[in-house]
Amino acid sequence: MNVLIVGSGGREHAIGWKLSQGKNAEKVYFAPGNGGTSENVDIKQNDIAELLSFAKKQKKLLTVVGPEEPLSLGITDAFEKEGLRIFGPSKQAAMLEASKAFAKEFMREAGIPTAEFAIFTDAQKAKDYVAKQDKPLVVKADGLAAGKGVVVCDDSNQAIAAIESMMTKKEFGAAGSKIVIEERLSGEEASFIALCDGKAIMPLASSQDHKRVFDGDKGSNTGGMGAYSPAPVVDSDLHSKIVMQVMEPVVSTMKKRGTVFKGFLYAGIMVDEGGRLHVLEFNARMGDPECQPIMMRMKSDLYEYIDAAVEGRLGSMPSIQWRDQTAVCVVMASRGYPGSYKKGEVIDGLDSSFGKDVTVFHAGTTRDSQNRIVTNGGRVLGVTGLGKDARQAIDNAYCVVRKIRWGDNGHFYRTDIARRAIAR
Ligand code: AMP
Ligand code: GLY
Repeated sequence: MNVLIVGSGGREHAIGWKLSQGKNAEKVYFAPGNGGTSENVDIKQNDIAELLSFAKKQKKLLTVVGPEEPLSLGITDAFEKEGLRIFGPSKQAAMLEASKAFAKEFMREAGIPTAEFAIFTDAQKAKDYVAKQDKPLVVKADGLAAGKGVVVCDDSNQAIAAIESMMTKKEFGAAGSKIVIEERLSGEEASFIALCDGKAIMPLASSQDHKRVFDGDKGSNTGGMGAYSPAPVVDSDLHSKIVMQVMEPVVSTMKKRGTVFKGFLYAGIMVDEGGRLHVLEFNARMGDPECQPIMMRMKSDLYEYIDAAVEGRLGSMPSIQWRDQTAVCVVMASRGYPGSYKKGEVIDGLDSSFGKDVTVFHAGTTRDSQNRIVTNGGRVLGVTGLGKDARQAIDNAYCVVRKIRWGDNGHFYRTDIARRAIAR
């Protein structure tokens, strides 16, 4: 069987890297892929018609969707209508990520623990609500806003300012015409991802990402500056709670609604001091960069699990086997990210040998006319190291990070990825 991976980030490179190591995937195509992926097909991730026409021409093909955009455009519905094999939720099931109001109402129906909330389409009513609250709040734009539509507020003035920027100034366009205001929670965050086949789930290893741009969790939110797996905060007790209180209710409630969830389901969880959990968000896909350390630790053949999920056989599969090691992914980014940055800088240091414990996953890279690898995005590389514990994985990853550079001081990275795992 051949595989088509839709997307161009570090997550897609890592999924393709893992599938290529198994015995089932003969050829792995990427659409559009990046400078680190081979067999790239020049079709954009949101061009559903072209992706469909490519897939129809292949004899035996399994399509795996990486990012949210094609899912919310209905790539799965379009492929399934043509009888093509694809792994990713339908447009309706992907609403769990595409609309925060949908996700909150869904959680209320399914009895999934989440922060108290209210939904508004009127700015004045939202402000009146804020005035009546005495607890700290979080204001969220309903629609997709590339991770920027969430404002964690210290006081009511910040909440009012967030409402104005979303609803009055329309800084997130249509994504902010509806908002969710919720109670601000405290604790430690973890990411929990599972494969779903519409009926059953198969959990992946736990992970934790680092959303803020600078060391010490300072600065703006980003897509993620690094990640590690496992997340020590998710002990076996919490693992079972997440499965029973979050993942299984999503699958059973979606099934009851007639919109089965098939694909990777990602829950962003907040764990408080007493070990109680609340869901902060759902994504209808793998996390990026969480995917990179998770793929490095996976011993089982990913293809077999995706295949079983597509066919609704996950319930009869054995648990996935993991390396008893820690994996740490350090994102190397273009200076200026998540704001504006240069592109087209030649990357030095990629041709050295990194040893078996480190893989450099590409994200924002491409090849120039001389076939050199150059920068092409904000998050450029995900240098991912394995080690017997967090400390060794950190050392292995940073040792390679220090060998890679581009431009005149053109790159930067956080120096404290996974430090929290050592502290624990
Ligand atoms: P989301 O996209 O909803 O996950 O929000 C992005 C980030 O905002 C999360 O990873 C948290 O760090 C933070 N956040 C979201 N909701 C809350 C909440 N209710 N309380 C505290 N922090 C939150
Ligand atoms: N790293 C967070 C996400 O993929 O949404």
